[in-house]
Amino acid sequence: MEWKKTETIDWHNLGFNYLKCDFSYISYYQNGQWDQGFLTESDKILISASSTCIHYGQQAFEGLKAYRKKDGSIHVFRPFENAKRMNQSCRRLLMPEVPEEKFLEAIKMVVQANSHFVPPYESKATLYIRPYIIGVGDNLGLRASSDYLFGVFVSPVGRYYKGEIKPVKYIVSEYDRAAPRGTGGVKVGGNYASSLYPCKLAKEEGYMDCIYLDPETHTKIEEVGAANFFAITPDYTLVTPKSPSILPSITKKSILEIAREMLKMNVEEREIYINELDMFCEAGACGTALGITPIGGIFYQDKLHIFHSETEVGPITKKLYEILNAIQFGDIASPNGWMLDI
Ligand code: PLP
Ligand code: COI
Repeated sequence: MEWKKTETIDWHNLGFNYLKCDFSYISYYQNGQWDQGFLTESDKILISASSTCIHYGQQAFEGLKAYRKKDGSIHVFRPFENAKRMNQSCRRLLMPEVPEEKFLEAIKMVVQANSHFVPPYESKATLYIRPYIIGVGDNLGLRASSDYLFGVFVSPVGRYYKGEIKPVKYIVSEYDRAAPRGTGGVKVGGNYASSLYPCKLAKEEGYMDCIYLDPETHTKIEEVGAANFFAITPDYTLVTPKSPSILPSITKKSILEIAREMLKMNVEEREIYINELDMFCEAGACGTALGITPIGGIFYQDKLHIFHSETEVGPITKKLYEILNAIQFGDIASPNGWMLDI
């Protein structure tokens, strides 16, 4: 098999766009069991038009990244957590779980087969990994499918918001991305479909995206469309929302640990009221795609609440960013069990 040439890729100027790599992974679930799974050179899948993923949104996905270290070797950031979270999504949407070993094996196979697409260390770009599970097969009524496809594809990516790390501005949305006892806590497509329109409105008003409030009372901060929210208070505490309708971010979990163990900060996962905005000296969004993105300001009720600065990254956010990046690119040791060597 001939590998697609990667010499023409401008690793330093990648955005967050899909670039077809040489191999992806597919496995089918039929008659109550998963098959072995295989690598394929095609990135197309052929499924019945009556598949439940198409009509009833019976699907879930994950997002994680592979990093090239200074010595050229490759490792993946916390895939064990993604394996667990994917199965939480599967349980919520009545889909069969993907055994954790199978999930990890698929990640390994795809990253190894596409190792030439893992960007060089110096570029600070990464290989984004997208596992997904979809309900397939012939079906019409509203019910869970009996057949599923679990796939993994990859794409080299740069920063989600192009350019150097700099503060972004968000606006608080009047819309909800998830219902109070709905599917906000799992990673399923419906949450993202419902966030497209509010995001478009936010962009039209000159903001990067919107901040959602809790769907029940609209008084508490939930998260950004594609990332969790955190803030720093003047007494050296990192606070982040606790809510059943936000996605439990693996990046958030990691920066809580970094803040507590390495920066000796106080950390609090608690309800954060939107009228607390002026009490924060720094704020940020965190996720796999967004990394740690400093928030310069949030527009709420006719006022732009500015945190550290509209243009400069706050010192604690910067520190968190540097430590997380150093761990992810293998420059400093990671806490036990975070990384999977490829
Ligand atoms: N919240 C939402 C809605 C997301 O889509 C993501 C991205 O995966 C996150 C939070 C961050 O989660 P993680 O850090 O696991 O990527
Ligand atoms: C991720 O950060 O991996 C996500 O899934 C967010 C996505 C909307 C790009």
